[in-house]
Amino acid sequence: MTDLRLAGLAARLPGLRLLSTPAELEYYGRDWTRRWTPAPLAIALPANIDEVQAIVRWANEERVAIVPSGGRTGLSGGAVAANGELVLSLERMNQVLDFNAVDRTLTVQPGVILQKVHEAAQEHDLIYPVDFAARGSCSIGGNISTNAGGIRVIRYGNTREWIAGLKVVAGNGELLDLNRGLIKNSSGYDFRQLLIGSEGTLGIVVEATLKLAEPPPPSQVMLLALPDMDALMQVFALFRQRLSLQAFEFFTDIALNHVLAHGAQRAIDGDYPYYVVTEFDAADEVAQETALAAFEHAMEQGWVSDGAIAQSESQAAALWRLREGITESLAPHKPYKNDVSVRISAVPAFLHEMQDLLGREYPDIEVVWFGHIGDGNLHINVLRPEGLAEDAFIAQCEHVTKLLAETLHRHGGSISAEHGIGLVKRAYLESTRSAAEIALMRGVRQVFDPNGILNPGKVMTAD
Ligand code: MLT
Ligand code: ZN
Repeated sequence: MTDLRLAGLAARLPGLRLLSTPAELEYYGRDWTRRWTPAPLAIALPANIDEVQAIVRWANEERVAIVPSGGRTGLSGGAVAANGELVLSLERMNQVLDFNAVDRTLTVQPGVILQKVHEAAQEHDLIYPVDFAARGSCSIGGNISTNAGGIRVIRYGNTREWIAGLKVVAGNGELLDLNRGLIKNSSGYDFRQLLIGSEGTLGIVVEATLKLAEPPPPSQVMLLALPDMDALMQVFALFRQRLSLQAFEFFTDIALNHVLAHGAQRAIDGDYPYYVVTEFDAADEVAQETALAAFEHAMEQGWVSDGAIAQSESQAAALWRLREGITESLAPHKPYKNDVSVRISAVPAFLHEMQDLLGREYPDIEVVWFGHIGDGNLHINVLRPEGLAEDAFIAQCEHVTKLLAETLHRHGGSISAEHGIGLVKRAYLESTRSAAEIALMRGVRQVFDPNGILNPGKVMTAD
C-alpha cells in the first residue's frame, strides 16, 4: 500500500479490511451501469458503525471522496467510483439485528440482501413488501438510498413507506439516530425521509428499522394481451375498480421477444403489441369469479385480445418471468436505460408522443418499453443497433434522453421514477426539479456534508 492517506487510515483502524488489487478495484468500482471505467483508490469494508464513522471522519480530514456501496445493482451510476474515491462497502454489515413482534419491525444492518429481509419477515409470518427482480443481489441500504420501488408499489408504496427508523453517519461524521421506530413523530423536520432517496450524498445508512406487514390474501396471476395503449388504460381502470390489485405491470411485444429468446416460455399464442402481468387478491371463489367477470368484460369491450390465468404457483412464476426476466434478457445488448414517470392519467398521451417522436427521429433503433404502468412508471431501454460504435450510440441515447426530458417536462413527469439520478441522469435534473429546488438541494447537501466527500458528482454537481 503506497498511498499515505490510506496508510494513515490503516494505522488509525488496524482491524479495518482494505482491498486494493486491480480485480477488487474493478469489481467494487462499478454498479450495473457499464459506462464508466472503475478507478477507485481502494475498498474499505467496515464491520461496524464505529468503523464507518471513523472512515468518514478520516475522509473529511484528508478530503478523500467516498462512494457508499451496497449490492451495486443500481442502474444510474450512483455507486460508480471512477475518480480515485474510496469505496465504502457495507457488505460485511449484513446481519438482521432484531425482530420486534409488538412493533412489527425488523432492525437490520445495511448490507442485508433484500431476499434475506423477505425471509426474515416470513419467519414471523409477516412480509416486507418492497420487491423487485434484483432481490437476490441488492442490499437494503442501497434500497433505502435510492428509495427503491418495484413491482408492488401499486399496493404498498415505495421503500420510504417502510422505514420506521434510520441510523446514518452524515457526511460531517455525526451519527444520527432518526425517528427511532416511532409511528408518530411531529417534532420538526423528518431527516429520515430526507435521507431516503438521497443516493449516498447526505449520509451513509448504517442501520434501518423496517416496518413489516400482514401477508396479503392468496392471489392469482393473469397475463393479458392487448391491442393498444388506450385499451391497456381501460383495463387498468376496470381492474383497479373491481379487483384488489397487488401488481399491474406492462411490456411490449419487443420486450416479450427478448425474454422468450432468453428461455422464457410463451403463455399466449399470437402476436400483440402490449402485454400486462397483473396479480390480485383471490382468496375465495367469489373473488376468483369477480376477476373472471372483469376479464370477460374487458374481452367483450375489445380491450383485451387474449389472456391466461395461472393455475399453480409454478405457472404464476412462469408468467412473472415474462416481466421480471426482461432486464436480464436485455443485459447482453448493453441497453441505455431510462426510467421515467408521469401521472397515470398522462401515460397514454406521453407514450404516444414519445413513440411517434422516436419513430420519426430514430426509425432504426430498437426501443424496449416495459415497467410499472400502474404507478405511471415506464422503463425505456434503447438497444444499440449492430454496427453502430459505442460512442455514437451513447451520443444518440443522450439525444433520446434529451427528447424524453423535454417531453416529460411538458407532461409534468420525472426523469427518474425509481432508479435515481446518479451520474446517468444528472444532466437532466433540471427537467424535473426547478432551479429554486436544485439550489436548496445544494444547500442541504452542504449542511450534511460540508467538505463534499460523499458521492461527489452524483445527483448534481457542486455548483
Ligand atoms: C425493473 O422494473 O425491471 C427494474 O427497474 C430494472 C430495469 O429497469 O431494468
Ligand atoms: Zn422497475
